[in-house]
Amino acid sequence: MARVFSGIQPSGTLHLGNYLGALQRFVQRQEVDDAYYCIVDLHALTLEISPEVLRQATIDTAALFLAAGIDPDRCVLFVQGHVPEHTQLAWLLECTASYGELQRMTQFKDKAQGRDQVRSSLLTYPVLMAADVLLYDTNIVPVGDDQRQHLELTRNLAERFNHRYGKTFVVPEMDIPEIGARIMDLQVPTKKMSKSTSSPQGLIALSDTPAEIERKFRRAVTDSETEVRYDPEHKPGVSNLLEILAAANGADPAGLAPGIASYGELKQAAADAVIELFAPVRERYAELAADPGTVAAALRKGAEKAEAIAAPTLERAQRAIGLLST
Ligand code: AMP
Ligand code: TRP
Repeated sequence: MARVFSGIQPSGTLHLGNYLGALQRFVQRQEVDDAYYCIVDLHALTLEISPEVLRQATIDTAALFLAAGIDPDRCVLFVQGHVPEHTQLAWLLECTASYGELQRMTQFKDKAQGRDQVRSSLLTYPVLMAADVLLYDTNIVPVGDDQRQHLELTRNLAERFNHRYGKTFVVPEMDIPEIGARIMDLQVPTKKMSKSTSSPQGLIALSDTPAEIERKFRRAVTDSETEVRYDPEHKPGVSNLLEILAAANGADPAGLAPGIASYGELKQAAADAVIELFAPVRERYAELAADPGTVAAALRKGAEKAEAIAAPTLERAQRAIGLLST
């Protein structure tokens, strides 16, 4: 059985990109793999976030995971901050990574740009992410396309550490889907849909009502032509709608195009598909929101199981690098 690990930041509402690029696949993988899913609250601290928002978003994200079909009896669902080994291993890996390679991360450059106060954790964030993955002897990391460079770094750090100190870590593979790995903003279809940069109109939240979803799709930006064709470079808006429809139905975006007569029909089909996908999630989420004890209990159990795997891996790395045991 493959060991699978992935994480999502609790920095706001989960959106359609998170669902199609990550969460939907997490649910599928828990059936066949030994899966660990982590709500990475420490990563959310790399940008400004108020304590109340972080607290609420952590609980909400966990509830949305459960509502989306993540089953704590089939996988391990936990909060990063509950397992101290993550930050402990991150230090050892910071002593493995170089300043130059962290500065070259495109996500660091994007997020740091235009801010006068950049937290030093924004620079070291990919090292903490590497620690998340390596602690669990992970074979496969399912993620969206924006995490490709971070996972390359994770692989490099694992290989470098193993080379310097002897075989300690499993070198993980990434799993990025062909369809749905990069869902774009509905208003600015050349930019990815994102919790931190999309406007409410450009983003479909997992918690949006069917009426809101329909309205956002109706107003989605397309182009001045009329032909429904999959061509992400020249027709980003239309291609994004086709990609959403395809990812929701397990189809191929280019193959769907000839069957759709107009932009109006495409928008309606995409809206209907997403409404159908999200309806059961919204329903279960409403039940769980009224029952925070169930969510907290699932997270407590998850943290215990996670730590049982993480602690011996950290110990192995500490001994390899030359730290004395107590
Ligand atoms: P984040 O919200 O940045 O914590 O991302 C959580 C997961 O969702 C990661 O695997 C991302 O790669 C994935 N993801 C985020 N935004 C998108 C998007 N617009 N399209 C597809 N996947 C995404
Ligand atoms: N950096 C990821 C993101 O912003 C979240 C993340 C943290 C993650 N640790 C991880 C993803 C480990 C996969 C594996 O989306």
